[in-house]
Amino acid sequence: MNSGDFKTIEINTDLLILGGGMAACGAAYEAAFWAKKKNMKVTVVDKAAMERSGAVAMGLSAINLYLGLRNRKNTVRDYVNYVKNDLMGITRDDLVANIARHVDSSVHLFEKWGLPIWKDNKGNYINEGRWQIMIHGESYKNIVAEAAKKALKELGNNGEYLERVFITEPIVVDNKCIGAAGFSIREKKVYIFKAKAVLDAMGGAVHVFRPRSVGEGLGRSWYPPFNSGSSAYFAIKAGAEMTCQEVRFVPVRFKDAYGPVGAWFLLFKSKATNALGEDYMKKNASELKKWAPYGTSNPVPANLRNYLMMMELEKGNGPIYMKTNEAIKDLVGKITDIKEAEKKMKELESEAWGDFLDMTVSQALLWASNNIEPEKQQSEIAACEPYFISSHSGASGAWVSGPEDLSPDEYHWGNENMTTVKGLFAAGDASGASSHKFSSGSFTEGRIAAKSAIAFCINNTSSGNVDKDKILELKKSILQPIDIFSRYKDYTNDKDVNPHFIKPKMFMFRLQKIMDEYAGGTGTGFKTSEALLEKALEFLQFMHEDSAKLAASDLHELMRCWENVHRLWQAEAHIRSVLFREETRWPGYYFRTDFPEIKKDWKCFANCRWNNETGKWEMMKKEIIELT
Ligand code: FAD
Ligand code: ADX
Repeated sequence: MNSGDFKTIEINTDLLILGGGMAACGAAYEAAFWAKKKNMKVTVVDKAAMERSGAVAMGLSAINLYLGLRNRKNTVRDYVNYVKNDLMGITRDDLVANIARHVDSSVHLFEKWGLPIWKDNKGNYINEGRWQIMIHGESYKNIVAEAAKKALKELGNNGEYLERVFITEPIVVDNKCIGAAGFSIREKKVYIFKAKAVLDAMGGAVHVFRPRSVGEGLGRSWYPPFNSGSSAYFAIKAGAEMTCQEVRFVPVRFKDAYGPVGAWFLLFKSKATNALGEDYMKKNASELKKWAPYGTSNPVPANLRNYLMMMELEKGNGPIYMKTNEAIKDLVGKITDIKEAEKKMKELESEAWGDFLDMTVSQALLWASNNIEPEKQQSEIAACEPYFISSHSGASGAWVSGPEDLSPDEYHWGNENMTTVKGLFAAGDASGASSHKFSSGSFTEGRIAAKSAIAFCINNTSSGNVDKDKILELKKSILQPIDIFSRYKDYTNDKDVNPHFIKPKMFMFRLQKIMDEYAGGTGTGFKTSEALLEKALEFLQFMHEDSAKLAASDLHELMRCWENVHRLWQAEAHIRSVLFREETRWPGYYFRTDFPEIKKDWKCFANCRWNNETGKWEMMKKEIIELT
């Protein structure tokens, strides 16, 4: 196979939506509504199949963002304060509030489309915690994808959906994004999309850091292996300003199969302890004062919960256990009637397994294979490797314009959710500084961004021109790994080892080693410093050079090559931002040993931009302006 075998397909559209996850489904649903009125075309492109793509692929057991505004349960301001505190003060209030004020309506749509939400006898949703509601969510993604596809279908020829097309590169002319390039991972086709507006919604990134699961466990991670930093790469290469690139997320999960802990902590009111049975949140509570006012607030921010746990591991007091047995005993123990107690026991057992079967099937398998009965014994939990997921408890993404009615001038420069590149919008994990949007908030942000992007298309009717030379250049660069492989494959008799090229898997291992050892991965207890980060940057420059030698023997490997190029850029943005922020603000996500404290003068955003004219990175502080 070589590049000459590939056809070039050119597609013209009005709004191009990149990704098929929660944000993209929300975007497709909303865009279709507005596009129909204006006879506009909407095209959605996903590297996988929408029914099971992205982070919700396996299903979920809770919707983590629901305010319950119709029952006056919470206010938008309550939510903004919660998110801000969890992120140690680093949040765009305007973006969080914009999502929060609209999110309930998305959840009501999910229910209308058939998603079973747990309800009590009075028909009220059952909460897991204050903001989270329980669902039977194995088919969550199918339900949402069906609605998105139906909406596109209703546009007739103006609704287009391409699956198994991997987006590699933005097309930008004069700081305006006019399209994207990619390739099919099933057929020999390169795609050139030309659009009036582009919405980046390709999720976050996993496998940038070395995972705990290596060898026989390779490929298992908390974050789905399908998302590889394409959102960040796309925006960075387009020249967009990025924010919070240092704010990775380190989730604490059931060990080795990454099962969720939220239901245990919030619904079952379980405790976690060190090996001596000590509740580390109580034992190490005095540490929280150092991280005031955030550390002394309720709930304690996720990163500090991690940190108090990590303190025990530092002292050699591991393993850490979730006291599943005690939680179940406490819940059943309250019931005096024996029959009722037995019934409750069965219910809790089923909920405990159901929590995993709805969203992390492998954890149920691991429990079964290790003979774990949660009602009888405790189960190990651990901090995972770092991920990039701004829709959860991380924050890394593009710096986007806020809504006109809420945002200060500094945060509002154009249509809602537009990046600093004209015509390029971002939502879900692709947009930064608005954490805790989760599945429902990402879908909602997709809707907000799509409506705004359609409005942009109405006011900016000219699509840019991509000339023939540019198309040839893009095609050549996308398919280069295929050509390198075909040129040099016979040089050695091992298809994976060759002095002329590097295979994507080896490339990924090399990146992960650098990130783990120098940028504060699990191997170094999440610690790093200027000296280590500078060294990492030095190695990453070699990786940039080596990326020109990536080789692919087939279409699947071509995708792997590009995934790893995308990871490399996400890694670099991260390292540069961790280096720039001379303090430790999220000690349970990463710890700067040379700046071990939180500092007042760093209560600001650390933004960065790769200047696509000079090829140099620019770092900048941006003020935090809170909503009054
Ligand atoms: P995703 O939904 O991940 O979608 C990304 C899309 O981009 C996918 O369709 C992918 O195929 C596509 N894509 C990626 N790269 C490319 C490329 N190069 N070209 C084309 N397409 C590409 N939220 C809750 O509300 N409740 C929960 O219980 C919950 N649990 C979670 C558990 C886990 C393990 C994880 C990882 C997340 C969880 N979340 C939960 C959060 C929720 O899943 C995310 O907030 C949400 O999926 C983010 O939406 P998104 O559209 O930004 O990304
Ligand atoms: S999930 O992504 O797999 O669903 P997880 O199960 O950890 O995440 O958490 C679900 C929700 O509960 C998130 O909103 C998270 O912030 C919250 N959460 C988890 N553990 C706690 C805790 N100990 N205290 C407060 N909130 C928590």
